[in-house]
Amino acid sequence: MSHEISEHDVIVIGAGGAGLRAAIAAAELSPKLSIAVVSKVYPMRSHTVSAEGGAAAVTREYDNLDAHARDTIFGADFLADQDAVEAFVAEAPHELIQLEHWGCPWSRDADGRISVRSFGGMSVKRTLFAADKTGFHMLHALFQTSLKYDHIVRYDECFVTSLLVEDGRARGITNVNLYTGEVMVLAANAIVLCTGGGGRVFPFTTNAAIKTGDGMALAYRAGVPLKDMEFVQYHPTGLPGTGILITEASRSEGGWLKNKDGHRYLQDYGLGPPTDTPTQRKMELGPRDILSRCHMQEYQKGHTFEGPHGHYVHLDLRHLGQELIDRKLPFVRELVRNYVGIDPVYEPIPVRPVVHYMMGGVHTDMDGKTPLEGLYAAGETACVSINGANRLGSNSLTECLVFGARAGRNAAEYASGMGTPTSNPLAALARDEQHRLDSQFFKKEGGSERIAAIRTEMQHAMEEGAGIYRDASSMGATCEKLRELRERFSRIRLEDSSEVFNTERISALELDFMLDVADTIANGALLRKESRGSHTRTDFPSRDDENFLKHTLAYRTDEGPRLDYAPVKITRWQPEERKY
Ligand code: FUM
Repeated sequence: MSHEISEHDVIVIGAGGAGLRAAIAAAELSPKLSIAVVSKVYPMRSHTVSAEGGAAAVTREYDNLDAHARDTIFGADFLADQDAVEAFVAEAPHELIQLEHWGCPWSRDADGRISVRSFGGMSVKRTLFAADKTGFHMLHALFQTSLKYDHIVRYDECFVTSLLVEDGRARGITNVNLYTGEVMVLAANAIVLCTGGGGRVFPFTTNAAIKTGDGMALAYRAGVPLKDMEFVQYHPTGLPGTGILITEASRSEGGWLKNKDGHRYLQDYGLGPPTDTPTQRKMELGPRDILSRCHMQEYQKGHTFEGPHGHYVHLDLRHLGQELIDRKLPFVRELVRNYVGIDPVYEPIPVRPVVHYMMGGVHTDMDGKTPLEGLYAAGETACVSINGANRLGSNSLTECLVFGARAGRNAAEYASGMGTPTSNPLAALARDEQHRLDSQFFKKEGGSERIAAIRTEMQHAMEEGAGIYRDASSMGATCEKLRELRERFSRIRLEDSSEVFNTERISALELDFMLDVADTIANGALLRKESRGSHTRTDFPSRDDENFLKHTLAYRTDEGPRLDYAPVKITRWQPEERKY
């Protein structure tokens, strides 16, 4: 079967915050470039839309870039590359103000300035916000800006199955058009991965169902290493059952975390003393990794509530009053009313830690460049790394803008120097991919394994072995289980052979990607014999800078990930003990 090949200069995969920012940056470089944006969902359904609390940047006179950099590096437990962090904080203010010019309706103080709020681990108020629907408004501003450029061509609802690599260069992609079921081929001189994270490898997550680590797996299969995958962030306040995020902004506006005795337990873990409003980096505004561990310790002491969806504590907003909640946290009120059936103005909210973010991702440099020529990555898909072992809340929306712009611009510059892509060699690669898709998925006969069963077993194995607390034996068991699941996956049974919106096929393709991503998390964690940031080992409880102040790089082999390491870039902040 021969495929028609559509040619562009740059392909951006993903249309969330990073993807749209990358596409705009590429489009701004030259009107002569053709930029394709390929997304498995309509852009406004990308996961950025659900971001709530805000985006960090230095915009106030009391703040400065060094303080933002230091908070980020300290929060990252010194695993962040400090040159990347310095570039990030320097470019952040411009990106957020530019978004204002593009129509983002930031919340405002009485004097007209864009409002800022506190966020966990930040030493001053520096998080810009649009009530508690920041992601929705940012994504909207980016999407409508992208519509101004006729040379941005969208391929909505197209699922990318592979990167086509020729002569050591990324040259194109194959994707399934969900509407027709057809496999399409796009060629370009540069490709930017912006597909978000892969929280769906865990059972309980704030991540939308679309966050299946696609871009990470695409790069991994093309020979690009995944970096620091063992670092998975739990957010301390998700709704039991659904995992829906209750934003950290509710704590920054003054919400309290209480155990089943009504006690603000964080004061017992060195984060006190309790005050009416949590102060910077203390109590409820401590960093996420620490707050999630405190919750687990409360659970172990029998201080948490027990409900149909497991243990939980209370997030109490009642003392904030209806006026503040409606003005600054309207979405929290709406979510809690709709999904828990209570009103946080009058009742405390049940919350528990939930998988929220992956610090690891596709190995890139500060320009978004991966080791594979022509391939770039940005946003949660990528690991630059500014987040190290633990990301500070509100740095990630800004990261999407700063590094989305950098990756898009650099990809466009690279592509414009390359001339017209020659598509011929891609035809053979596309035929191979069609053959793989047909034999493994589309025309597969027989098989007895169910997609849902393998996915559920994978998710539970990940929670068991790669959750908040980890040890060698549980992680080893998870690695073993993942090997078993990979083998069973080759025997999956697909029952839907229709072409139009065949969601069973897409679930199978996503699970295929997730098994790869899960493997890198569990194996990376097993070999990192220390505790740092979100990676807490009960058998190695201390940070070990002598042996592990280094990035993990996971390379794909047929036997599973091969792990290597790379140095961390230290510029001005020497590692010290991380105490709040
Ligand atoms: O709690 C929140 O609003 C999450 C923000 C973030 O992850 O950056």
